[in-house]
Amino acid sequence: MSSRCALGLGCWAFGADYWHDQRREDSVRTLHAAIRGGIRHFDTAQGYGKGMSEQLLGQQLRRFRNELHRSDYTIATKMFLPSDPAEVAPTVSVSLRRLCTDRIDILYIHWPDSKRDCRPYLEQMETLRRRGIVGSIGVSNFTPALLQSASEVTEIGYCQFPLSLLWMKSLERLSPLCAVRKIKTVAYSPLALGLLSGRYRSAADLAEGDRRRSLFPFSEPCHHAFLDLLEALGVLASQSKTDMATLAFLWVLAQGADIVLTGARTKEQLERVLLSVESHVDSPVFDELTEIARSFGRCIEEHEDNPFFHRW
Ligand SMILES: NC(=O)c1ccc[n+]([C@@H]2O[C@H](COP(=O)([O-])OP(=O)(O)OC[C@H]3O[C@@H](n4cnc5c(N)ncnc54)[C@H](OP(=O)(O)O)[C@@H]3O)[C@@H](O)[C@H]2O)c1
Repeated sequence: MSSRCALGLGCWAFGADYWHDQRREDSVRTLHAAIRGGIRHFDTAQGYGKGMSEQLLGQQLRRFRNELHRSDYTIATKMFLPSDPAEVAPTVSVSLRRLCTDRIDILYIHWPDSKRDCRPYLEQMETLRRRGIVGSIGVSNFTPALLQSASEVTEIGYCQFPLSLLWMKSLERLSPLCAVRKIKTVAYSPLALGLLSGRYRSAADLAEGDRRRSLFPFSEPCHHAFLDLLEALGVLASQSKTDMATLAFLWVLAQGADIVLTGARTKEQLERVLLSVESHVDSPVFDELTEIARSFGRCIEEHEDNPFFHRW
């Protein structure tokens, strides 16, 4: 693993909503395996299962309180902008209760909002930071222009964005500014929500009710390019004596983000991720993968700024 890069556990699936068949016992086992495997950064959001993910994370971390001191790990959560900036503090209090803690290490704005100016919200977040309730302020899914404007209001510690072989453009667009402003980069969805495991070639391979069915690689103009990418990833994985998910994950680790969030949802997946961190792949393979990712990226329209094609 890149020596600067830390691995974090993404707890989105623990909210079960988007991931329709997530079982609570699997979430608990995954989280325990992550803690036992040495992961010390946990990423959740108020919106994951309407607070269910925050609650599960808080309750389970509390069960480790005799083994882990609160300062041994970091918790990041995210909020959507409430209708009024004055609601930031009450909203954060709810998260603190669910997370069974008195401090959120990173508080992100989850998504920008075209109807709301984020600056007054950042001022409220800064007040919480001064009071020690929030360790650091982060933004997620921001464009470079919004990041620039946010960093003029307050110190932005973290910038979270998607990064995988199916989505390189956020890294390319945001990392120069992050470097100048000394903002730490946090990469999410390294397996493109599991689409790079090779198990899903079309939406029909996912269960009905699984919301990943609507992701853009399953429809044209990107579906053919997606199948080509899977084919090439499969060949490189077998040449490298590994599997597609491991190779796709290692490529993300090699891109130099400060934190990479894995979205493992079973203990077995989490253990495979931990094992993959120990594997070695020759750098020409990564160069080839970068070319493959660039070529795939050409099917995505310039104005799309997130892999959900979410209009914020
Ligand atoms: N800021 C944001 O807006 C935002 C957006 C997305 C994610 N995130 C954060 O980033 C975290 C990670 O994102 P993600 O869940 O999309 O991560 P991911 O690692 O790209 O995808 C996770 C999915 O991949 C499959 N998987 C995981 N490990 C695997 C393995 N070893 N082999 C094969 N398949 C495997 C699982 O799905 P199946 O087994 O069902 O295929 C799993 O649910 C989230 O939990 C969240 O904390 C943030």
